[in-house]
Amino acid sequence: MLLRRLNRAVRRLPFSLLLLIAAPFIVEVLIHVWQYQVPRPTTDLDAPFFTSCQEPDVGAERENAVFVMLARNKELHKAKKTIRSIEAQFNKWFNYPIMFLNDEPWDPNFVTELNETAGGKGIFEVIPKEQWSYPDWLDQESAKESIQQQGKAGAPHAGLEGYHHMCRFYSGKFYQLDVLKKYKWYWRLEPSVDFTCAITYDPFVQMAKHKKVYGYTIALWEVGKSCPGLFRATADWKQSKRVPSSSLWNAMMEASWMPFPFRRLLSWVPHRDTYGDAWSLCHYWSNFEIADMDFFRSKTYQDYFDYLDRKGGFYNERWGDAAVHSLAVAMLADPQQVHHFEDIGYRHDTFYQCPANAPGGQLPGSLSLVKNEPWTTEAAGGIGCRCQCDGKELRNFGTYCLDKLKQPNTPKRGWFS
Ligand SMILES: *[C@@H]1O[C@H](CO)[C@@H](O)[C@H](O)[C@H]1NC(C)=O
Repeated sequence: MLLRRLNRAVRRLPFSLLLLIAAPFIVEVLIHVWQYQVPRPTTDLDAPFFTSCQEPDVGAERENAVFVMLARNKELHKAKKTIRSIEAQFNKWFNYPIMFLNDEPWDPNFVTELNETAGGKGIFEVIPKEQWSYPDWLDQESAKESIQQQGKAGAPHAGLEGYHHMCRFYSGKFYQLDVLKKYKWYWRLEPSVDFTCAITYDPFVQMAKHKKVYGYTIALWEVGKSCPGLFRATADWKQSKRVPSSSLWNAMMEASWMPFPFRRLLSWVPHRDTYGDAWSLCHYWSNFEIADMDFFRSKTYQDYFDYLDRKGGFYNERWGDAAVHSLAVAMLADPQQVHHFEDIGYRHDTFYQCPANAPGGQLPGSLSLVKNEPWTTEAAGGIGCRCQCDGKELRNFGTYCLDKLKQPNTPKRGWFS
């Protein structure tokens, strides 16, 4: 009744008057959305470290770094596949130690076989219970029930208790492990991964040299139903700590087009902050990571992790470490400190990145690279070294969140461009 009367009243108003009333709202919305525009740099903010094969400098000084793979005894073959691949494409030259982590005691057979595949550089550790279990203060019964329900609702892996422990572990507890304390850098591996290009330089050294803290290969969209409350918790923490919004943070956001007084009502919708603006769900896929552990060991990051942990979302929802790391990096690192390894060929499950080979940059006569062939065709603009892409070259995944602000005015790259 009231609505109908209002409607009739509005219809009797002249159009120009309506426009006059609406104008301040429209202007406010435009200013609001404009604030989330990220600046385009004049030069590439994050150029590849190298754009062709290098003669591996086996005598060069190494960084204090370690490979880390979380695996189970039954994943022997999948683990071997990854280690064979990284050894052949990189580690036979650079010889970094490879640490295997398990939440259960290692099967001696796994240890023998993987140590052999890793060329004797294997370290085998068991994760202490307190880093791989429910926090004391969490109501386990209700968490278990929730996990069951999440499984039925169908978010990927959300019905598996161990998966939740794993996400919590990689989000925060990982960086507290005693056995990792002596290292600064890690390169995360996963069972069943292919590295499809030769990596002929030392990424740790380049990360350190260019003052990077976080490196990735693939960016994706998070599955929204796995983490309805994660972004709000993150944004609340950010606000309470008065962390300013960097351009990288803004690049992860989608500003709301809702006019001012109503915008805040959107804060009740998942993936939105208290002002009603949304996270785009963009995140770096964390099964490949090369990163500085000091960033994640910092008091600030650990405080953020504890805040999330207290919210219970690692169990009552299925907050993933990829999203947690990505949001933290966007919040706490400078945009220049993030590196996209566009030159590394990487495949896990059905997702891959495989660059085209750099024309004239394949060092055909190199004795070090003699086993890293044959490689697929070279193509203009290619930056890969001896990549074998299976006809999939150039089909890189878009790296939406970072690419928005790192490249000078290049057309937006799609998922398969
Ligand atoms: C792995 O192999 C190397 C070289 O053969 C050996 O020195 C080392 O003790 C082995 N490590 C484990 C955990 O078995």
